Amino acid sequence: MIASRLPFEVIRQPSTMRAWAENLRRDGLRICVVPTMGYLHPGHLSLLRAGRARADVLIATIFVNPTQFGPNEDLAVYPRDEEGDIEKARECGVDLIFCPDVEAMYPQGYQSYVTVEELSRPLCGSARPGHFRGVATIVTKLFHITQPHIAIFGRKDYQQFAMIRQMSRDLDFGIEIVGMPIVREADGLAMSSRNAYLSAPERSAALCLYRGLKAAQARFHSGERDSLALLDAARQPIEDTELARIDYVDLRDATTLELVTSVSRPAVLAMAVFVGKTRLIDNAVLGID
Ligand code: PAJ
Repeated sequence: MIASRLPFEVIRQPSTMRAWAENLRRDGLRICVVPTMGYLHPGHLSLLRAGRARADVLIATIFVNPTQFGPNEDLAVYPRDEEGDIEKARECGVDLIFCPDVEAMYPQGYQSYVTVEELSRPLCGSARPGHFRGVATIVTKLFHITQPHIAIFGRKDYQQFAMIRQMSRDLDFGIEIVGMPIVREADGLAMSSRNAYLSAPERSAALCLYRGLKAAQARFHSGERDSLALLDAARQPIEDTELARIDYVDLRDATTLELVTSVSRPAVLAMAVFVGKTRLIDNAVLGID
């Protein structure tokens, strides 16, 4: 394979990364990018493997993006392990790792942002003002710097994936946006870098998100289509869990993210739940197997 002849490189400068990408494109190679904030877990690695199978050159980006964190959020304590991440990425067949520092991405005087209007309003958009503007902006920058033909995201962050797919279409990025299934721990907890924050009792409490999703899915499979009934089923296990507090539990059209009162087309049951101080998200699409 052509890609295996590429030397493994860790690149920190946007201009160096872009020069690499332009050369690779000139050579006719197909580039895949997998953007991450690092602290890689098997969910991230599943995206890297998917990318490896779909392109000649696989680029992973690792950047904890300050503009997508609110003032009272966990930017300062977000878990990091650059050395471990580089090793894991290399084992998954990554060719180039782009891990810039904050000053390189947002130099003094920086003032341009990308907003995706409707898809970034509900759910995490209203719970975390400015979050999706930060995500859309950094993803746009990473796309311009890495020049991919294809980019891979996880459906764990369902709204993020839907928004980036829309942005790529709306702004004619010409990049194929692929969404991969949620990778879970053996007991059902969706893998997340933020799971590292959970104490042992919180880790058990965190299972209530998955229980809620399973309960709603079971009602859906037995024929329930009414949103309120499905949402009730999803909320119950969370409300019964002492350490958990619902931020939102919502049922929305899987494409437009508009509210649905009854499920007649695929709908996403999306939730954000505080377990102790840690905010976890999870979702399940109802209406497709
Ligand atoms: P991060 O949370 O590191 O996630 C990077 C990618 O991994 C995202 O596409 C996310 O959906 C995916 N992912 C995380 N956990 C997953 C799981 N359990 N199963 C499948 N995929 C999973 O999302 C971000 O970073 C940032 O917002 C980013 C897009 C990099 C922009 O800063």
